[in-house]
Amino acid sequence: MSENATPVLRLKEATIKFGGLIAVNCVSFDLMKGDLFGLIGPNGAGKTTCFNLVTGLYPPTSGSIEFMGRDISGMASAKIAKLGICRTFQNIRLFKALSAVENVMVAAYLRHRTGLGSGLGLLPSAIRETKELRRQALELLDVVGLSDVAEERSGDLAYGRQRRLEIARAMATQPELLLLDEPAAGMNPNEKVDLQQTVRRIRDDFDKTVLLIEHDMRFVMGLCERIVVLDHGEEIAQGPPDAIRNDPKVIEAYLGAAV
Ligand SMILES: Nc1ncnc2c1ncn2[C@@H]1O[C@H](COP(=O)(O)OP(=O)(O)OP(=O)(O)O)[C@@H](O)[C@H]1O
Ligand SMILES: [Mg+2]
Repeated sequence: MSENATPVLRLKEATIKFGGLIAVNCVSFDLMKGDLFGLIGPNGAGKTTCFNLVTGLYPPTSGSIEFMGRDISGMASAKIAKLGICRTFQNIRLFKALSAVENVMVAAYLRHRTGLGSGLGLLPSAIRETKELRRQALELLDVVGLSDVAEERSGDLAYGRQRRLEIARAMATQPELLLLDEPAAGMNPNEKVDLQQTVRRIRDDFDKTVLLIEHDMRFVMGLCERIVVLDHGEEIAQGPPDAIRNDPKVIEAYLGAAV
């Protein structure tokens, strides 16, 4: 990567205050194309709030956020999504009454809706497009290992599978940057190993840039190439897993828990 390449995502002293609380305080980091980046820190450190800033849920109080060289600070969420940033949520948000494949199709549809916007769903072109959306959705379900439950009601899927479905749904919007908020939460150790492979594959085969929040240290350290650590809204360390694991500030933040 050349030194002057434009980062996919750049936080420059990003700060947000909620009343007297500084939830994110002067946080700066760059994600380059193809990075698989981890964002960690104890509960309440400001990780999800960082995602909320990047996706435009809140404007930063000060500092800035750039996506592909463009300042997106304070831009509306829908516009940011359209530019190519998609996230999953710490609390799963699926259309529980729809099947797995329908959930992915809805996300893809929202991206492609220009072609289907007439509302005349029986036009031959609309039927063709719906078939194409379905084909693409099934492909994405295959990527996340959910082919066998494509037609099942998403609300009936086991928790770990719902989390995978959220990833497929985010992928359906064809983002450049994928933000995953605790994707391995509630998964058993085998599911976590599978998920590591899936995320790696998404980066490698689909050419995505990935930023993920996760509490499971083994998961993060085994997957991410660089890690940013937040504590009480402040960035206390940044670097490759080995440096982070041995950083006294990080160890202290986790009160001596194994990292
Ligand atoms: N909309 C809001 N209004 C007021 N305070 C908020 C708001 N959003 C977040 N906070 C506060 O900001 C701090 C950071 O919260 P955040 O959800 O970003 O933490 P987190 O690192 O994601 O934690 P966890 O690991 O528990 O998910 C917390 O003290 C939280 O209560
Ligand atoms: Mg959180």
